[in-house]
Amino acid sequence: MKKKIGFVAAMTLVGLAILSTRYYMVDVPVWHLFGGGEAPDPVTLHLQGEFVESNLGAAEDPSGALTVRMIAQQFVFVPQCIVVPASVPVRFRITSADAVHKLSFLGTNYGLKAVPGVVSEETFTFPKAGEFKIPCHEFCGAGHYAMRGLLEVVPRDQFAALLPGERRTCEPR
Ligand code: CUA
Repeated sequence: MKKKIGFVAAMTLVGLAILSTRYYMVDVPVWHLFGGGEAPDPVTLHLQGEFVESNLGAAEDPSGALTVRMIAQQFVFVPQCIVVPASVPVRFRITSADAVHKLSFLGTNYGLKAVPGVVSEETFTFPKAGEFKIPCHEFCGAGHYAMRGLLEVVPRDQFAALLPGERRTCEPR
């Protein structure tokens, strides 16, 4: 019995020794393991993971909650136009492909920072239908003053009738 414990302890030590010298061979940065994979790489944002183009805009999660995903980049919000239903809590998830931006819904107190490598999340409810401009409220470079998107808040039943593709963006195509 004692021998067995000694053997296990020895193997554990060997295992730890290997790990401590080979950690650089693991190509996932350690902080990604703790962040639950919530740290999107600004460089590959458009290509893989949560923020690929087909996943942007408004969509229902498996839980039934409505989530809007957006990317801020110099000097646009993607999508440029988002549509959500009135008086329904909407979860916004946004990240940045480059600098720090701040999305603000003009005429409301709502705002959300977009930071590269981080997903900012906040839930907002817009009580009435209407159009809200989304200017960027954080200086982000030469095109900052022209950086703006649009939020369309539509009545619930009108939103319910939209096809999934029409929920991704309200930009004219
Ligand atoms: Cu983006 Cu200022």
